[in-house]
Amino acid sequence: MTDGSKKAQIGVVGLAVMGSNLARNFARNGHTVAVYNRSQEKTEALISQHGGEGDFIPAASIEEFVASLERPRRAIIMVQAGTATDAVIGQLADAMEEGDIIIDGGNALFSDTIRREAEIAERGLNFVGAGISGGEEGALNGPSIMPGGPQSTWEALGPLLESVAAKVDGTPCVTHIGPDGAGHFVKMVHNGIEYADMQVIGEAYQLLRYAAGYSPAELAQVFRDWNQGDLDSYLIEITSEVLDQVDAETGKPLVDIIVDQAGQKGTGRWTVKAALDLGIPVTGIGEAVFARALSGSAAQREATGALPAGTLQTLKDLGVDREAFVEDVRKALYASKLIAYAQGFDEIKAGSEEYGWNVDPRDLATIWRGGCIIRAKFLNRIVDAYDADPELPSLLLDPYFTGELEELIDAWRRVVVIATQVGQPVPVFASSLSYYDSLRSERLPAALIQGQRDFFGAHTYRRVDKPGSFHTLWSEDRSEVEV
Ligand code: 6PG
Repeated sequence: MTDGSKKAQIGVVGLAVMGSNLARNFARNGHTVAVYNRSQEKTEALISQHGGEGDFIPAASIEEFVASLERPRRAIIMVQAGTATDAVIGQLADAMEEGDIIIDGGNALFSDTIRREAEIAERGLNFVGAGISGGEEGALNGPSIMPGGPQSTWEALGPLLESVAAKVDGTPCVTHIGPDGAGHFVKMVHNGIEYADMQVIGEAYQLLRYAAGYSPAELAQVFRDWNQGDLDSYLIEITSEVLDQVDAETGKPLVDIIVDQAGQKGTGRWTVKAALDLGIPVTGIGEAVFARALSGSAAQREATGALPAGTLQTLKDLGVDREAFVEDVRKALYASKLIAYAQGFDEIKAGSEEYGWNVDPRDLATIWRGGCIIRAKFLNRIVDAYDADPELPSLLLDPYFTGELEELIDAWRRVVVIATQVGQPVPVFASSLSYYDSLRSERLPAALIQGQRDFFGAHTYRRVDKPGSFHTLWSEDRSEVEV
């Protein structure tokens, strides 16, 4: 707590767990923190339970909250994305003065952030859409933070955000990403990559559990072993924790008690929708989103469960050694994860060009090394890749990653083949391999598609041997004309 004369350097509106934890993080790092929640109980709970952790200034109204902030005022909104955020933005804007800064720390859709930033700028205020990744634990102990908005706000915000962000090798996992919606855009893609990362872990689990017959406890150890190598990451680490968990009520592995229908708040869907508009194939992320949707289609799954499977084989039938298969699956997971990251960075590059943000991929790889859900040792390699060549046409072309693919590709192919022979779904493993083979292919079936389009719609085609657009007179003498 603090005396009435002091002003707060930062304020947090919305004191659910994420907001409270972020406020505590600021207070623990020596800042005086103004706090407000529409229902006063949450404010009182924060102060009674954690008031001793630092200097808090509780407020009973938005006006009181704003009055307790030093200039330029900096207020972080940590409420549900959507209409609740718009309501709080309006209340803050009405009470704030020129030069003050409103930060939206929720998972807002980047196009909403672009709109809001323009509206708030017209009122002489600054609006920063900031992706904050790391969940409740990250908010308290160090998230990865992706602020967008005017570069001019970084002077007032940077030191504050750096003090609370996760640190890797002493470097804070926060930087100014780019103007208006850039921060929320890269957070959205972060979440899309997160979906793909979780799905490829799920596909590895599916194969080793149901084709190779390992138990959840054995697989917990497999993932712990994998976490010592190239797959060292938060998501692999928590996977072993989840697989080790035994349900107290039944004594069974918790993973067998959980209903196999995945939720999704929307950021993965947004990533795919944005990629479709940008013309960027994020096949891994897309298949991960669709896999969640399919898992949730309970009625359809109930009806389709008995569809003919064809002749299914076992690893034994196929003469596949279980131990060797574990290593092959690890390689297929790593390769598919690499594809998802390469596609995610392609989308960020395309978004940055489309919206004029000038996002630096090195910045993202650097601040994603810690604090966020996709934090992983592997991101250090992505930093190296973009340090060596910021203009890489694809992350896969970085010599290190090309070398990794050399090591991974045969196992990856074996695993996709075996998965189809044993009848286990691996939508991201398989689609990522086809994406990779498409990138490698000298000729794609798009030539035939162009012929079909010209046949039924006279949509024309280009030739490989000379410039121009051409159309064949399919319903006449089938001669070709240049158009
Ligand atoms: C993070 C998380 C966070 C949230 C997800 C949940 O970066 O801290 O991604 O944003 O937990 O948005 O998303 P789904 O419900 O869509 O899995």
